[in-house]
Amino acid sequence: MQDDSDKCKTRRLLNGVATLHTVADVLTRFLDVVIIMNIYISIKYLVQDRVRFWGRVLKSVPASRLTAILPISRVEAVGFELKPSGNGHSLTDKLTARYSLVKMPQVNMNQDNFPSTPGKVKMERSNYFGRVVNRWHGSSSARLFGFSVGLFMLTAFVFLMRLNTAGDWSLTDNFVAPVQAKWGDLVWQRKVRQSCQTKREDGLVVLVTGAAGFVGTHVSLALKKRGDGLVGLDNFNNYYDPSLKRSRQELLEKQGIFVIEGDINDAALLKKLFELIPFTHVMHLAAQAGVRYALENPGSYVHSNIAGLVTLLESCVKANPQPAIVWASSSSVYGLNTHVPFSESDRTDQPASLYAATKKAGEEFAHTYNHIHGLSITGLRFFTVYGPWGRPDMAYFSFTRDILRGKPITIYQGANKIDLARDFTYIDDIVKGCVAALDTAEKSTGSGGKKRGKAQFRIYNLGNTSPVTVPNLVSILEKHLKTKAKKDLVKMPRNGDVPFTHANVTLARRELGYEPTTDLTTGLKKFVKWYQNYYGVSGSRRTM
Ligand SMILES: NC(=O)c1ccc[n+]([C@@H]2O[C@H](COP(=O)([O-])OP(=O)(O)OC[C@H]3O[C@@H](n4cnc5c(N)ncnc54)[C@H](O)[C@@H]3O)[C@@H](O)[C@H]2O)c1
Repeated sequence: MQDDSDKCKTRRLLNGVATLHTVADVLTRFLDVVIIMNIYISIKYLVQDRVRFWGRVLKSVPASRLTAILPISRVEAVGFELKPSGNGHSLTDKLTARYSLVKMPQVNMNQDNFPSTPGKVKMERSNYFGRVVNRWHGSSSARLFGFSVGLFMLTAFVFLMRLNTAGDWSLTDNFVAPVQAKWGDLVWQRKVRQSCQTKREDGLVVLVTGAAGFVGTHVSLALKKRGDGLVGLDNFNNYYDPSLKRSRQELLEKQGIFVIEGDINDAALLKKLFELIPFTHVMHLAAQAGVRYALENPGSYVHSNIAGLVTLLESCVKANPQPAIVWASSSSVYGLNTHVPFSESDRTDQPASLYAATKKAGEEFAHTYNHIHGLSITGLRFFTVYGPWGRPDMAYFSFTRDILRGKPITIYQGANKIDLARDFTYIDDIVKGCVAALDTAEKSTGSGGKKRGKAQFRIYNLGNTSPVTVPNLVSILEKHLKTKAKKDLVKMPRNGDVPFTHANVTLARRELGYEPTTDLTTGLKKFVKWYQNYYGVSGSRRTM
């Protein structure tokens, strides 16, 4: 009951804030229009006043001085005077009078020819500039100008307030984020709030990191479909074709899911997000995935899987309320473990790749933050996930592409020519596991900076429980693609891959109700259908 009323309050708060935000947004737009009009009117009057001002100045300067100061040709130009084009009496005339330059009859500028009558020509000898300037300052347009400057300064102040408040600590100052995040303004805030609105009783409010990724896209769609509120965060890096990530983003946006372009290392962005939205959960899927790429770019693993994770956990610690966190670890943490099927209680201290080591480190960080700060954390060890919108760097994906292009595919073999095997798990089964983990996650206990008791800490395998060898995978693909593959059998290099994976999902079955239901043949059929639809039947779309 307490939980229910908390969720209702959160929803009411979100809806109320969203309305306020819309009103503020409209007011800002209105202010923008007023400012632009005001600047236009001010400049106009300022120019007119300048003309009048210099006209007065020149008129009040004794001709002898002018001839002394100016060349003859310019003195002739002084023979203009300013006349109001209206009758100059009404208020409108005063405010909007257009002054035109009327040429005066040419006069001899010799002082001897000036009339001696005072008043016709001012023969002020002292402080005539001061008097003219004072008169100008007293004019209505000068006041208007002053008002404009004030309004402009107010605008500048509002603008500065809207700017991001950077300056928070960052673990990866030495890394250049692949994108420059654009965030924080009112339009951005409105999008975030709208995306986070729930459409069902007890709906979760979730921050999904890595939302433009393979698993992130599917999890986000599933949450939205059942009425949860969520916002995505992804840095759209180019580890694989970013246009595929953009297509996924489009898919999400069609369902009303806003994906923020930003990095999990951006502590200021995370702070802003947690201030804006009282997230109930974080589904953390952003990571540098892939085993082999670590030989090429180890820094990217440290950036996202180590520093990024710690930055995110720090932000969750400071958030009030603290969200419950569900995050993606990996089956790769089992490394050189030979005890099959892999159980959560098996050894995970022998990683075979840098990727695996960073995921293992992530599990240790998670435990630390759970222990010290009371964060509720659930780690999910995914086993080789595949399916529509999948990752182009994975074998089933690149095999499909190469088979369709008639290119040979490389199939690795272990010692003694043993076939490699993987516990291929269909994306829908993984999504069900993720959602069940979110639904069963308990609240964090450290909101407000003080841990009020032990918080939930869980780790689950999410696999299919029936490993398939890579040559078998290829035969299924050949059948679905109706094309024979050209195969190169190669001894597996020492690149971090392990010979087999096999999940024991007893724990997830018992505690999450997890039950994988899609076999590889069925799952690959769905993948091939999506692939041919997305890339064209021959896989000819040039985006990879
Ligand atoms: N797909 C699998 O077979 C598999 C297996 C085990 C574990 N996992 C884990 O599951 C999660 C999702 O994997 P996936 O297959 O969807 O991978 P993915 O690469 O498709 O998705 C990850 C997303 O995170 C984003 N990202 C990376 N670093 C980021 C950063 N610093 N800030 C913001 N965004 C960042 C990427 O742009 C990408 O869109 C990852 O944590 C991965 O390690 C996946």
